[in-house]
Amino acid sequence: MIYLNNAATTIQKPPAVAEAVVAAMAGAGSSSRGASANDLAAARSVAGARVRLARLIGFSHPERVIFTQNATMALNTAIFGLLRPGDHVITTDFEHNSVLRPLHELERRGVIDLDYLRADASGRLHMEDLEGLFRPNTAAVVSTHASNLTGAIVDAAALAEAAHAHGARFVLDASQTLGALPVDMVALGADILCFTGHKALMGPQGTGGLAVVSDVELAPLVHGGTGVKSADPLQPESYPEHLEAGTMNGHGLAGLDAALEFLLDLGVDQVERHERDLRERFCAGVAGAAGVTVYGQDDGHGHAGVVALNLAGMDSSTLADRLAYEHGIATRAGLHCAPRMHAALGTLEQGAVRFSFGWYTTASDIDAAVEALAAIAAELD
Ligand code: ALA
Repeated sequence: MIYLNNAATTIQKPPAVAEAVVAAMAGAGSSSRGASANDLAAARSVAGARVRLARLIGFSHPERVIFTQNATMALNTAIFGLLRPGDHVITTDFEHNSVLRPLHELERRGVIDLDYLRADASGRLHMEDLEGLFRPNTAAVVSTHASNLTGAIVDAAALAEAAHAHGARFVLDASQTLGALPVDMVALGADILCFTGHKALMGPQGTGGLAVVSDVELAPLVHGGTGVKSADPLQPESYPEHLEAGTMNGHGLAGLDAALEFLLDLGVDQVERHERDLRERFCAGVAGAAGVTVYGQDDGHGHAGVVALNLAGMDSSTLADRLAYEHGIATRAGLHCAPRMHAALGTLEQGAVRFSFGWYTTASDIDAAVEALAAIAAELD
């Protein structure tokens, strides 16, 4: 199987990741829940992952890197923890349901009002509309760093600048970009950056989190044991405990720590270059194929290593199934948990087939995918 579904999860990881998970399962205890050598080994992995994650995003407060089970939990922690009754929020048509659904739920409860920065059929966000969306009570702009469907990178720094000019916070969902391209939290102006560990970071599933700048206070989403300050009746105010209740995923975080070490040594700019080359090769390869429509124009900020396309009127699930079962190529069809983006592109009915690349994807994987598409397209003639 040629695996081109790296935007859903990476399955090829640096070997040190699985080794670290196995070693942790064979002997690590529980971080902050004891002082045995086993517990300290777990604590070291968790602390190591915190420090390395902070280094990767240029953030000088590792204690304010919070680990959660995934990016969805991180985004729920940010959104429910930040927003208050009467707040207005701006989000975008690019968003994944992990942003949209928490916001819709707060809107449904009458807690917030919500506006969208629109995308059009070319897959471009209408940044020129942004200024007009702000209201005196706008509390946050919440945006992905790149569309999980088209890969189009958002001008996050411009969103942050506008948010700050209006006294609002900027929440960045970096699930599709962290590990795939350099992400500097400070340069981008993110007040809260949410991430997942199992995509381009190449760590295990069950890992993710958020980094929260010092002057943002979040109400905890989950309350419980922290291993410290046990006499406090309420969740401690100190970070990371404020937002981390319950036993940590020490086994997963040991793997994430190994993945981060690999990426810091490699340099994420290398991954970015590799994925850009692969994307260009793929797009050039399919450009001439009859019936292929690629979605999402470049509006000057480039793309992560993701391409969404359709072949004539073929249902996207049919095409993805044929790629998988006749050609051994794994992609993802359907709506990709991004309903507003599909609505903008006009693909809500057909869906689209998404090809997504990673550090371990090769040029020959790309060529095989291009040939497979050409073979299926040729049958339509
Ligand atoms: N959010 C992931 C995707 O885009 C799972 O496929």
